[in-house]
Amino acid sequence: MSPARPRRRAAPAAPSPTSGAPPTEGIPLGGTGRSHPAIGLGLWAMGRWTAAEEAVTKETVHRALELGVPWFDTAEVYGSGRSERILGDALVHRPPGHPVFLTTKVSQEHLRPAQIRAALTQSLGRLGRRNVDVYLVHAPDPSLPIGPTMETLEALWKEGRIGAVGVSNFNVEDLVAARDALREAPLVVNQVEYSLLARREGDTVLDYCRKNGIVVESYTPLARGLLAGRYLDGNAPPPDVRRLARDLFDRDRFPEVRATARALRALAVEAGVPLLSVALHWLARQGTAPVFGARTPAQLEEVLEAWRLRPEAAVLDRADAISRGAG
Ligand SMILES: NC(=O)c1ccc[n+]([C@@H]2O[C@H](COP(=O)([O-])OP(=O)(O)OC[C@H]3O[C@@H](n4cnc5c(N)ncnc54)[C@H](OP(=O)(O)O)[C@@H]3O)[C@@H](O)[C@H]2O)c1
Repeated sequence: MSPARPRRRAAPAAPSPTSGAPPTEGIPLGGTGRSHPAIGLGLWAMGRWTAAEEAVTKETVHRALELGVPWFDTAEVYGSGRSERILGDALVHRPPGHPVFLTTKVSQEHLRPAQIRAALTQSLGRLGRRNVDVYLVHAPDPSLPIGPTMETLEALWKEGRIGAVGVSNFNVEDLVAARDALREAPLVVNQVEYSLLARREGDTVLDYCRKNGIVVESYTPLARGLLAGRYLDGNAPPPDVRRLARDLFDRDRFPEVRATARALRALAVEAGVPLLSVALHWLARQGTAPVFGARTPAQLEEVLEAWRLRPEAAVLDRADAISRGAG
């Protein structure tokens, strides 16, 4: 197992609202000598996989490639393989010289060794790649021991079929067990829900990951639009959005979540920056790599524009306090 190593982030690039590409500084990817991109586009449910919306999803992926998004995240389970296929098709036409960091995941239902190998073969086929940069266990299966799963990922890493080993939705106990099962391959990534509106469990996991050289990829970083200012003024989130993030929109919890989001919006207005900039750069300052969703090219462009504007440290400190209920 790789020893714990301190992680250092490169200083973010100066805000440049007019530059074409988002800042590209990355996070050291423990034990690999490589860097993990600072931000990425996730391809979970942008088009909700209806035929009507799929064309928009494709446009969004192509636009992301044009704009230099450095990392794409998908999973075998997203759209039952359609997400990986759309991404694979788009990658064929990507601009020359534009390197792309790719993460995909083996589903929680496929964690036995033979299933993992079959799942990876199918994912790589859909993506049209010989390997992926990080292959993640989508979530632990409490009914299976993690040892054989991690040993299989390590074997795939040694065979060069995956660039590195990662996990998702692992708590500290799960992470300890996963690392114990690896002999040579470092565990480099844990992808978890983490945002200014969802950090209670994430803070503990982040602390462990920081100490052990594991990059935290923060998913649902925009709180399904709340951190873009949606659903804050009386218009209730539609049922499909509530279904995609049950904990955020839980009937009992939502008033508190919305009050926090409103306080963050007031802070952003006072600071003269978009709320999205506060949401994304707070995550970056926590040392995590946000993986956001965007259903349309317009949403994508707005998020990337916000990423180019880095709020001052004092603003991010106040956002941190507000999100802890101390603001
Ligand atoms: N490992 C896991 O278990 C796991 C779980 C969840 C997510 N993820 C990963 O994380 C990625 C992102 O997660 P997510 O989609 O749940 O979260 P998110 O980034 O918090 O939310 C994305 C949604 O926010 C809204 N949005 C985006 N840009 C906007 C803008 N400029 N203005 C207004 N609204 C905007 C859109 O909602 P509408 O579509 O409603 O317009 C979009 O679909 C996924 O694609 C996936 O790769 C992983």
